[in-house]
Amino acid sequence: MKKYNVAVVGVGAVGVEMLRVLKGRKFPVNNLRVFARSSRDIDVDGQKYPVEAIAPEGFEGVDIALFAGTEGEKGASATYALEAVKRGAVVIDNGADFRMDPKVPLVVPEVNAADIRKHKGIISNPNCSTIQMVVALNPIHKKVGIKRVIVTTLQASSGAGKGAVEQLKEETALIARGGFDNIHVSSANKSMPQQLAYNVFPHIGSFVDGGYTNEEWKLVKETHKIMHAPKIKISATTVRVPVRTGHSESIYIETEKYIGVEKVKEVLFNAPGIVLEDDLKNNIYPMPYDCEGKDETFIGRIRCDAFVKNGLWLWVVADNLRKGAATNAVQIAECLIKKS
Ligand SMILES: NC(=O)c1ccc[n+]([C@@H]2O[C@H](COP(=O)([O-])OP(=O)(O)OC[C@H]3O[C@@H](n4cnc5c(N)ncnc54)[C@H](OP(=O)(O)O)[C@@H]3O)[C@@H](O)[C@H]2O)c1
Repeated sequence: MKKYNVAVVGVGAVGVEMLRVLKGRKFPVNNLRVFARSSRDIDVDGQKYPVEAIAPEGFEGVDIALFAGTEGEKGASATYALEAVKRGAVVIDNGADFRMDPKVPLVVPEVNAADIRKHKGIISNPNCSTIQMVVALNPIHKKVGIKRVIVTTLQASSGAGKGAVEQLKEETALIARGGFDNIHVSSANKSMPQQLAYNVFPHIGSFVDGGYTNEEWKLVKETHKIMHAPKIKISATTVRVPVRTGHSESIYIETEKYIGVEKVKEVLFNAPGIVLEDDLKNNIYPMPYDCEGKDETFIGRIRCDAFVKNGLWLWVVADNLRKGAATNAVQIAECLIKKS
């Protein structure tokens, strides 16, 4: 079997998970290089990885570069992706910088793997909250058409990087020790202005058009692009919750044709990458805690709207660092090497 020279850029929440996923899925790696801002050794599950300081020349000889580096508001790919492509690598990027570029495929393999063929050096991985939503919506859309989506996300702290997880941990420990007043997190762990522990806030990303955040617009625009369905009317509210890892989404959809709960369950049960957990008698439904470390998208609480004939509700949960980022990126790489 052919093996590939692989680079991972970034060793934060997503980068570390990429190292786990490459190993766990036995991706055929010849030489692995790991880049971040500074060099050092890191330990992931007992395995040592040397991290090199990123430089354009580092991509010499690399076949596939998986980017998960942040660079202020942008990703490390804004500076280094084209350098890697110039040197012959295919870049799979987790950041938002190239996602809406019409020349760059935006891919969730369960939905639009065929788009990978159109790449010109860069393939984008969608936003974590978009990935799990399109995995759930696409099989229903293909069966009966979807015309309307209203989604509220409940997003974990790790969705904002490893710094946010540290903030949540320190705040929780401070509250446990001293109560709810005067929570002063050390500046090293203060990754966002809001308190994460014992709190929720409807603000992910920055406020842009129409009172929405850019995270909310990502759910709209990325879904249109991935599903090739620009006419679906989508509204989103994105909410940060004090969960470590695992995003949940409460999704309301209206379909073109009537489908009904049992048929939706059958369609989702037979769709790739989905685990149905919907057994109300036994209180079984997906929860982020149970989905941590798993690669599938979990769906439950499927029910008809009481007032709208073609209205349906779904509860959709996935690990934002796995299916929402690292697993999806490695799946793209697997499709890429299969196609080549
Ligand atoms: N977290 C999620 O659930 C999620 C999901 C989907 C997509 N994403 C995207 O994935 C990317 C990484 O997110 P994250 O959550 O892993 O962030 P993170 O935990 O904050 O880690 C960021 C990593 O990027 C590295 N980095 C920063 N600037 C760099 C540069 N110029 N060159 C090379 N490396 C650089 C940092 O290096 P040092 O260690 O040396 O500081 C660090 O290792 C972001 O674009 C994010 O939007 C995240």
